[in-house]
Amino acid sequence: MPGPLPAGDPVPPGGELPAAALAGAGTRGFGVYVHVPFCASRCGYCDFNTYAPGDGAGVDPAGYADLVLAELALARRVLSAGPSRVDTVFVGGGTPTLLPPAELGRVLAGIDAAFGLAGDAEVSTEANPESVTPASLRALRAAGFTRISLGMQSTAPHVLAVLDRRHTPGRARAAAAQARDAGFGHVNLDLIYGTPGESAADFAASLAAAVEAGVDHVSAYALIVEDGTRLAARMRRGELPYPDDDVAADRYLAAEAVLGAAGMGWYEVSNWAATEAARCRHNLLYWTGGDWWGLGPGAHSHVGGVRWWNVRHPAAYAGRLRAGHSPGQGREVLTPQQRRTEDVLLRLRLADGLPLSTLDDGGRAAAVRACTDGLLDPAGYAGGRAVLTLRGRLLADAVTRDLLP
Ligand SMILES: C[S@@+](CC[C@H](N)C(=O)[O-])C[C@H]1O[C@@H](n2cnc3c(N)ncnc32)[C@H](O)[C@@H]1O
Ligand code: SF4
Repeated sequence: MPGPLPAGDPVPPGGELPAAALAGAGTRGFGVYVHVPFCASRCGYCDFNTYAPGDGAGVDPAGYADLVLAELALARRVLSAGPSRVDTVFVGGGTPTLLPPAELGRVLAGIDAAFGLAGDAEVSTEANPESVTPASLRALRAAGFTRISLGMQSTAPHVLAVLDRRHTPGRARAAAAQARDAGFGHVNLDLIYGTPGESAADFAASLAAAVEAGVDHVSAYALIVEDGTRLAARMRRGELPYPDDDVAADRYLAAEAVLGAAGMGWYEVSNWAATEAARCRHNLLYWTGGDWWGLGPGAHSHVGGVRWWNVRHPAAYAGRLRAGHSPGQGREVLTPQQRRTEDVLLRLRLADGLPLSTLDDGGRAAAVRACTDGLLDPAGYAGGRAVLTLRGRLLADAVTRDLLP
């Protein structure tokens, strides 16, 4: 289970935001995230806020859309003066596609009615490969979804087994083809690398399958061993080895080589896209200081430098909403220094890089050293930006630490 959320300051019962946060809301881009906290079973590595049957969510998936719509009504009240348009929607989880497409469509229609969806809005949902069918994919398209993100993870049966995945090795690729046939213009596959027992050849085969699936976006993440998960317990007992940093670096280089050769360019350290239009605009909004409202238990939101997070348990979330209260558990007003630090942390991971003007004198001196060490691109620096080189991407956390005061 995930660790406790930070305490933060209390959220007023009506969820009201300070006037300073509301000023300019919508001018920085506005997104809506919808968390769906249900899965058919829990994967041993995952610590997301999600509940399998028998885990005690205390909320019936059949009534879940109504809860989200109740929080949406609160969001509209809090943001009564704006924004007047939603640029991106991202339905994540959990496994959103455990809910019927009509229910997800009802949430989407609610968002449109409350705020207005931009004509060119990006509307994404996550999906487990085994949780979609050609018919459900067509229904999701008809409901207004424009992009789908499928959790492929690997094509090696023994890797899928260590990860407790329920789909067969070929299912993700088949689901991607079905999504395209259903009319999805943008399809992502998520890969995980560095799982115990995964060989270089296993990952190469997973990358090849992702490329052959003809998708326009791939996310590849190193396996993170999260405290409190079954995977962490198995490693502690010595049943499985811990991931190795050198192996993870080799896998990352393989991803860059294969995806790059297939015409996909990195635009964030763990994300590759075939075209500019294929980049996930919702995630870019997170990474560039946009505003978003996160609906659902445990969801985080950010508007104008105020960040808040909802109570995590679905039953507690439902209880707050039924009592007419905000489900917000705590919030913090970011100081200018915190906002700068976050900007460095997030923007440095982007291929567009970080404006050097964000850095203080010490940070700019560190950037010069990082160029000399081959971690930042000298041409980017000359153009006024800190842009990671391939070697810098492998050491992104260390470079970030050097650039910060
Ligand atoms: C939370 S899942 C939601 C999507 C869907 N339920 C699925 O698993 O296919 C989103 C992605 O997070 C990634 N993820 C979750 N836990 C992770 C971990 N411990 N290490 C690396 N990636 C992880 C997986 O790649 C997964 O596809
Ligand atoms: S299906 Fe996705 S969200 Fe659910 S437990 Fe597995 S990784 Fe986590």
